[in-house]
This record gives sequence, C-alpha cells and structure tokens, in this order.
Amino acid sequence: MNQLSPSTVPAHVAIIMDGNGRWANARGLPRAMGHRKGVEAVREAVKTAAECGVSYLTLFAFSSENWNRPESEVSDLMGLLKTFIRRDLAVLHKQNVRIRVIGDRANLASDILPLLLEAEETTRGNSGITLVIAFNYGSRDEIARTVRKLAEEVAAGRLDPSQLTSERISASLDTADIPDPDLVIRTSGEERLSNFLLWQAAYAELMFVPEYWPDFTRDTFRTALARYAARERRFGGLQPAATLAVGS
Ligand code: FPP
Repeated sequence: MNQLSPSTVPAHVAIIMDGNGRWANARGLPRAMGHRKGVEAVREAVKTAAECGVSYLTLFAFSSENWNRPESEVSDLMGLLKTFIRRDLAVLHKQNVRIRVIGDRANLASDILPLLLEAEETTRGNSGITLVIAFNYGSRDEIARTVRKLAEEVAAGRLDPSQLTSERISASLDTADIPDPDLVIRTSGEERLSNFLLWQAAYAELMFVPEYWPDFTRDTFRTALARYAARERRFGGLQPAATLAVGS
C-alpha cells in the first residue's frame, strides 16, 4: 500500500477538510481544539502530497457559507489562518511550496488580505507543489463573479459572446492556470461537494473517507492515493477494452 507509482499519482488533489468539530466533540473538547488539530493535519497533508509527487493540493479552508457560524468560531478560524500564514510561510517557502489563494477577496478584513497577498507574492517563484487555499470560497459565488466579469467584457465590446467557450470560462475563474482536480477527497464520512469546485470537478474522482480531518494522517492520505490509482477514468469515453471492440 505504501508504494505509489508516479504515473498514477493525481496531479491535483482537492480536499474538503470536514469533521474538526465532531473530532473535538468526541473528546469532550471545545470545537476550537478540533480546528487547531486540523491545522496540524494541514501541515502533514502538504508534506505528504509533496513527497508523493502531487503537483497541486487545494484545501477548503473557509467557505463563503462559513460566515453563518457563531462569531466566536469564525474568529477562531480567522485567527488560525492568520497564525498559519505568519508561522508557516517561511517554512513552506523553504520547502519550495507555491501558495495560491482562491475565493472572493472583496471585503476581507484588513489584517487578512495583506497576509494572503504576501503568501502568494513570497512564494510566486517556487517550483514545488502548489498549495491552493480556498478561503471565503464558494463555487456558485466564484461562477457568479466570473459571469459578471465576462458580461462586462461583452457589454464593453471587448468580447464576443461566441468567444464564451468552456475554456474561456475556465480561464476566467479563480482557478485560472490551475489544472482541474483529478481527485476530490472529503473527510468525516459526509458525501457532498458543498459548493466546492463544482465546475472544476466535472471529471474528478470523488472519495469519501470516514476519518475526521484531524485524523487524516500521512497513511490515510497515501491509502487514498493508492485507491485512486486503482480507479479507471474514462472522461465520458469508453474503457480501453470496449474501445478495442468498437475499433475492431
Ligand atoms: C470543517 O470542520 C472544517 C472547517 C470549516 C475549516 C477547516 C479549517 C482548518 C482545518 C484550519 C485552518 C486552515 C488552514 C489552511 C490553516 P467542521 O467544523 O465543519 O466540523 P463538523 O462538521 O464536525 O462540525
């Protein structure tokens, strides 16, 4: 299970890190402790993805819907993200990690946006794994912002509606220049996409694992990658044997 062939490692893995609260509840701890343990799992996941040869790792850190949580929890999550960038940026930079942030940047607190921009700017030239942090992200919101942007281009006469191809739309989303995810993992046993990368995950393999996010270890991650390697992706085509039969 521990040998992964480079040819079957997904280029882009995206993860819905779910179950921090339940992890804490199960131990009689406050939810904030679950999120704190979750940050440790984030560090381990970045290291594991890099060591396995994954090129892009996208983590759903804060959704546009998470603002509906109690103020104290929102503030805990913001604090953790800020601390993560302040404490880990130098280490990630040294590990040659490139950071990208996706999500709506409008109206972000004045102590968050500069940190996100600094993380992107500092690591822009790195050539190792790209860590994509989905922050204040929701897929429908991303698509709506993109549609508005493109509609403005059309209204200004800079874009003809015939140029609105799926490639053009992909290239206008927050994830422009990032390949579509090959594998989307959700932890905690829930089986939903929850407004995460809806456009980009059109052909992704979906994997739902029972572990709560704080328990998502190097071994759990490697097992998921091994399970992915055994899947057959057809992208709407036929499986190889059927293709042969049709062709012969
Ligand atoms: C889901 O657990 C997790 C989140 C809403 C946030 C994930 C955030 C982190 C792991 C920490 C910050 C991230 C980075 C990149 C430093 P939940 O609270 O929905 O758990 P529950 O469903 O069990 O209540």
